[in-house]
Amino acid sequence: MDVIETVREMQATAESLRQGGQTIALVPTMGYLHEAHLELMRVGKRHADKLVISIFVNPTQFGPSEDFNRYPRDPEGDLDKAKSVGVDIVFMPPVEEMYPHGFQTTVSVSQLSQHLCGLSRPGHFDGVATVVCKLFNITKPHIAIFGQKDYQQLSIISRMVMDLNMDIQIIGVPTVREPDGLAMSSRNAYLSQDQRPSALCLKQSLDLASRLVEEGHQKASDIKKAVEDLIRSHPYTKIDYVSICDPVTLEEIDHVEKSTLLALAVKVGQTRLIDNCILEVKE
Ligand code: PAJ
Repeated sequence: MDVIETVREMQATAESLRQGGQTIALVPTMGYLHEAHLELMRVGKRHADKLVISIFVNPTQFGPSEDFNRYPRDPEGDLDKAKSVGVDIVFMPPVEEMYPHGFQTTVSVSQLSQHLCGLSRPGHFDGVATVVCKLFNITKPHIAIFGQKDYQQLSIISRMVMDLNMDIQIIGVPTVREPDGLAMSSRNAYLSQDQRPSALCLKQSLDLASRLVEEGHQKASDIKKAVEDLIRSHPYTKIDYVSICDPVTLEEIDHVEKSTLLALAVKVGQTRLIDNCILEVKE
């Protein structure tokens, strides 16, 4: 497994792989790798000849009061894990390599960024779209893999690829969970032992809403109310949003249709957690 830290070397390596007729899959990450990241990598390996991952805690997607400085990092552990799933190349640049003096370009997927997490994290998705666009230009992948846990991020990247005619196939991987249902996340490491049971309210909310829809409830306000009551019954929780929305435009809707997105963001103590599912109305 090669570890590359400069843009120039990564681009040259990707170019020579392409010249040699090899296909490249990219899994972008911010490190502190867990089983869900490794699952994305296994999917990547199945889809291309060479698997590149990036490990870069991207400062431009963190707000001024967010956790950039204390975001968990474990480069040594990450390299061991990457090796264990057969990653070929780890691209791990320092911040100055990605954002040299004078950097000033932003990729903004304007409408999709205005909903859900975009409302409480202004500028976050511009930071994500910009860094992912850069990572695509640096690692030259044929295929890139993202998790459905970050549903809005996956939508925004897919839209960017379409709008800017990037010749890259985007694959979404279903959310990977702990045995008790909590969606895996590097930020789960922030939860105290006391707070951990409260974090289960997100998956419980998805299950409750799915059950209500199965029983015939379709009014978004009723489903939201039930979910909000469930979340509030757990200590340490503060709801950021409960949204029932169109899975393509992310615009709020009043009635659950054939296929509707339920997306949640909840603070448990100081830790902001997200989760989502598709609510399906049977014909
Ligand atoms: P990070 O949070 O490290 O996540 C990297 C990838 O892993 C993302 O595609 C994310 O959706 C996926 N992922 C994380 N937890 C998951 C889970 N429980 N199930 C399925 N997939 C999961 O997302 C980012 O980094 C950054 O925003 C990035 C895209 C790297 C840009 O900086």
